[in-house]
Amino acid sequence: MYGSQNTAKKVTVPDLRARKANASGEKIAMVTAYDFTMARLVDEAGVDMVLVGDSLGMVVQGLTTTIPVTLEEMAYHCRAVARGLARAHLVGDLPFMSYQVSPAQAVESAGKLMKEGACESIKLEGGQEVAEHVHRIVRAGVPVVGHVGLTPQSVHALGGFKVQGRGASGAEKVMADALALEQAGAFAIVLEAIPPDVAAEVTAMLSVPTIGIGAGAACDGQVLVCTDLLGLARGHQPKFAKRFAELGDAAVDAVSQYVNEVRAGTFPAATHAYKPNAAAPVHRVLPPADEFDAPLALDLWH
Ligand code: KIV
Repeated sequence: MYGSQNTAKKVTVPDLRARKANASGEKIAMVTAYDFTMARLVDEAGVDMVLVGDSLGMVVQGLTTTIPVTLEEMAYHCRAVARGLARAHLVGDLPFMSYQVSPAQAVESAGKLMKEGACESIKLEGGQEVAEHVHRIVRAGVPVVGHVGLTPQSVHALGGFKVQGRGASGAEKVMADALALEQAGAFAIVLEAIPPDVAAEVTAMLSVPTIGIGAGAACDGQVLVCTDLLGLARGHQPKFAKRFAELGDAAVDAVSQYVNEVRAGTFPAATHAYKPNAAAPVHRVLPPADEFDAPLALDLWH
C-alpha cells in the first residue's frame, strides 16, 4: 500500500538487532526525513533506518523546541515518508506529552503512529521513568527505540540543549536509563550528546544496538538530522552535525539563477515549452464589451 518503485528487501527489527553481534562490524546508518521526496533519496542512498523525528518542529516548522509538535502532525509526516521507503526501516517519534502521562496513553499513541503513520517502530525519550511505558508498548506488539542522554523534549528541565552524562553520577544515570530500556524490551537505543567514553561503556554493556548522535564512534550505529547532514540548515549547528554537502548554498545559487533568468526573459527557452500549435490557431470567443453576463469561452488548449 505504501510501496515505491524500489523492490529492495525491507530492513526488519530482527535484522537491526543482529547488527549488534554482526561479525562484519557493519554499523547501522540512520537519518531523519520528514517528507516523501527526502525519504526516497535517503532510501536510495542505502540508509538502514529512517526516523521521522519530532525535530520536525524545529527543522520543518521553524520552532525553537520540539515541545509543541503533536501526534497528528507526526502521523501526517510519517505517512508521507512511508510512501517513499522501499528498504529502510521506518521509526516514528512519539512527541511530548503523547506518552508521558501513563503507560496506557503511551500504548494508544504508539498504536496511532503505527496505524495512521504506517510506522514500523516508534521512538520515545527517557529512561527509568518510561520503562513501564516501553514494556507495555512492546507487549502490544510495537517495536520500540529508546532515547537517553540529551532528550530534547526535556530541554527546559535540563536547562538547555546540553551535553549529558558528565561526571560519575551523570554517567551512572545514562547507564541505568539505557539498561532499564533494554530490560523493558527496547530493540535499539539512541544515545544523544554524551561523552564518547560513556557511550562506549553503554554500548559494551547492552545486548541491543546503540545509535549515537553526538556520542562518539563506539556506538553500533549513527543518526543525523537530514538537513544538517546535507548542509541545508542555516544558523547554529551542534558540534556533532557533520555537513556532508552544502546543498543549502547550492539551492540558493540555483534559485537566484532562476530569478535572474525569469527577469532577463531567458527562461523558459524553447526547449522548456510545448510544441507550437501552428496548425490550429487559438480561437477566442469574447463577450461583447457591454454584456457582462454573456458566456465566455476561451479555447486556449486545442
Ligand atoms: O527528533 C529527532 O530527530 C531525534 C534524533 C535527533 C535522534 O530524536
